[in-house]
Formats: sequence, C-alpha cells, structure tokens
Amino acid sequence: MSQALRKSARHGDLARDAVENESRFGLLSRWMKNPLRTGSVVPSSPALCARLVRQTRRAPDEAVIELGAGTGPVSRALLAAGVPPEKLFVVEIVPGMAAQLRRSFPGVNVIEGDARDLPTLIPRQWHGRIGDVICGIPLVLLRKSEQRRFIDAIEAVAPGRGFLHYSYCVTSPLPAKAHDLSKAREAWTPLNFPPASVWRYMPASSSPLPHAVNLGPVCVCKGQPVHEFQGRSLSGGKFA
Ligand SMILES: C[S@@+](CC[C@H](N)C(=O)[O-])C[C@H]1O[C@@H](n2cnc3c(N)ncnc32)[C@H](O)[C@@H]1O
Repeated sequence: MSQALRKSARHGDLARDAVENESRFGLLSRWMKNPLRTGSVVPSSPALCARLVRQTRRAPDEAVIELGAGTGPVSRALLAAGVPPEKLFVVEIVPGMAAQLRRSFPGVNVIEGDARDLPTLIPRQWHGRIGDVICGIPLVLLRKSEQRRFIDAIEAVAPGRGFLHYSYCVTSPLPAKAHDLSKAREAWTPLNFPPASVWRYMPASSSPLPHAVNLGPVCVCKGQPVHEFQGRSLSGGKFA
C-alpha cells in the first residue's frame, strides 16, 4: 500500500473512531459540559426505546418528531418500528451530535437546532400532519416559563396532539395542571439507567384522537387494522 493510501485509510479509521466515540461517550462528555441541557450520561436503553415506540401514534400520512435525539437510540427504534425515514424529523441542538445523526440515519430529516424554534424548523407543509412528538429534553430541570416555550412550540406544529416525554422522575416531570395539560404515565421500565417513565401530555381541552394508530402490536377493529394503545385499541376495539 502506498503511503498516501495508508494515510487516507488511517483518516478513515480516525473518522470512524470519532463517530463510535461520539456514540459511546457523546452524552457523558456533553453532560460534563452542560448537565442541564443533556440530562443523562448514557443513551436510552433498548427497553425504554421499545416502550416509547409502543406508545407512539402515527397515521400512515403523518410524520413523527423527536426532540433531543442525542446519539439516536430512539430514532433507531422508530425506524426499526417502520417509521419511514422521510417521515421522521429529529431535532438536536448540539452540532456534533446532529452531524453524527445525519451520518447514522441517511434519509431522516435531521435538524440541528433548538426545539423551542420548532415552528420554523419543521417545514410548513408538515404542520398539522404530525402523529406524535417525542420529547427527550429534560424539561423537569427548567423553569415553568421555559417549559412553556417547548410546550407552545410543540402545540404550534402538532395542534391538539400533545406529546410523549420520557423522564427519570418518580412523579410527573411537568406540572401538568399549571400548563393546562392532562397527564398519563403510559409506561415504566427499570431496565434503563436511571429507571424511566414514559408520560403522555395532552392539551386539557383536546378530544381523543380516533384516527391515530400506535406503532405497537396491531389488532383488527371493524375490519381495519388498529394498533394497541394501553392494551386496548384507540377506537375501542378489543384485542384478540
Ligand atoms: C437526555 S438526552 C436524550 C438523548 C437521546 N434521545 C436518548 O434517548 O439517549 C437530551 C438531549 O436533548 C438535547 N437538547 C437539549 N436541549 C435541547 C433543545 N433546546 N433543542 C434540541 N435538543 C436539545 C441534548 O443535547 C441531548 O442530546
């Protein structure tokens, strides 16, 4: 091998190592720099991702938004559950992580930006066509007025849909009543570090979403495939 080829192969190895290290140690090093923004030292576990995916709702023509994608474990699980890459929007504020997400998930809409700017980050034609928003940003660490900015940004692009939020808190990470939201703890797993819950927040005034389908197991209701939602179908059908 010529010296030039060896040098370029070595560069390739270094780039690959950098990506793997970002994956392995990305959250830890980001957490050391900015613990409030990062919120966790390790990526979400497969058990937590599975629970999140199970609770995620999306009709075939709708997209899913993930806020605070980090090193991408939740994005990967969403793709594995069948969300088409072009219908997945992932938002990450740290440029290095956004760059890694772009490399890891070709075809996914990776947006480097602040989730509080969601209305300008998500293309206009997708506003109102969002099945679900999954928020991994540690909102519990923020002041109420700051939390409100995230909630308003989500509501602007996904009106009436609410959002999923995973958290390590034992109780609700958001003061739901103060934000005029209803809350439900939809899942919990000890198989995460730290153990985590999946919360669903909805605008208190919103009505149920009869057309929404989960990405979880499918049952048939009135001749139509319907996905499971907390053990029952969203339109009231029973699982066989
Ligand atoms: C707890 S980590 C979750 C990472 C990943 N989703 C996982 O499950 O392992 C939170 C992530 O949110 C990102 N983040 C924090 N504030 C943000 C904001 N305002 N907009 C977009 N991303 C943000 C952080 O950089 C970090 O990657």
